[in-house]
Amino acid sequence: MRMRILVVGFSLGCLFLFTVCSVVAGADIALEKPRTSLGVDIMEALQMRKSTKSYATKEISIRDLSNLLWAANGVNRNSGKRTAPSSYGRHYTDLYVVSNQGVYFYDPVKHSLSLVTNENLKSRIANQKYVEGASHIIVMVSDSTRIHFRSKNKVAAAWATAGCIAQNIYLTACAMNLGTCLVVNLKADVIKDKFELKEHQTPLFIMPLGYPQH
Ligand SMILES: Cc1cc2nc3c(=O)[nH]c(=O)nc-3n(C[C@H](O)[C@H](O)[C@H](O)COP(=O)(O)O)c2cc1C
Repeated sequence: MRMRILVVGFSLGCLFLFTVCSVVAGADIALEKPRTSLGVDIMEALQMRKSTKSYATKEISIRDLSNLLWAANGVNRNSGKRTAPSSYGRHYTDLYVVSNQGVYFYDPVKHSLSLVTNENLKSRIANQKYVEGASHIIVMVSDSTRIHFRSKNKVAAAWATAGCIAQNIYLTACAMNLGTCLVVNLKADVIKDKFELKEHQTPLFIMPLGYPQH
């Protein structure tokens, strides 16, 4: 009996240590299942939609981040298609999340975040100071090689999908009483370098996320 207690205690200790080390090291993050309702009607969310350019220091929760990423461009059908439309249904827009813990890549199929770098880049990716005050920053990156060859205008397709993702984020954030803003004034060279992007990958927009500073 005592042996069993020792083994269970040791296992729980290992699990605790593993969890703590994962958080400290900024390891991959399993997101929560997105909520199916925020209790806010779509017309109410449109009424609430606005840009926020001043943020409180309080961090947003993993639950909020999970909802926002799924709403942004998550899988919403068995076909694997997304909450945002795209030319020929191709998936050419990647989302990255920049936080105090580092930079993460959003995998919509697994609905999880994988670590890209544990460097804190919040103050380095925008040309506007207020952006670094946000809790998290979503970065939209388009990959031209994944856009269908029949797309008449690949550049337009990339920006159009990014715009749709942006509005998904705006409406969801505002419905959750969080602030965000569509920002084109970004430091593409820093993002390309630090995220180790390929030549054909282009950062289009960034969107700070956080509690509005009143
Ligand atoms: C294409 C586009 C690019 C934008 N780029 C920036 C930007 O670089 N920096 C910024 O602070 N806001 C940017 N904005 C946000 C606008 O400033 C904001 O939408 C505008 O002031 C209207 O305010 P509202 O969103 O609250 O209605 C951008 C908006 C759009 C649509």
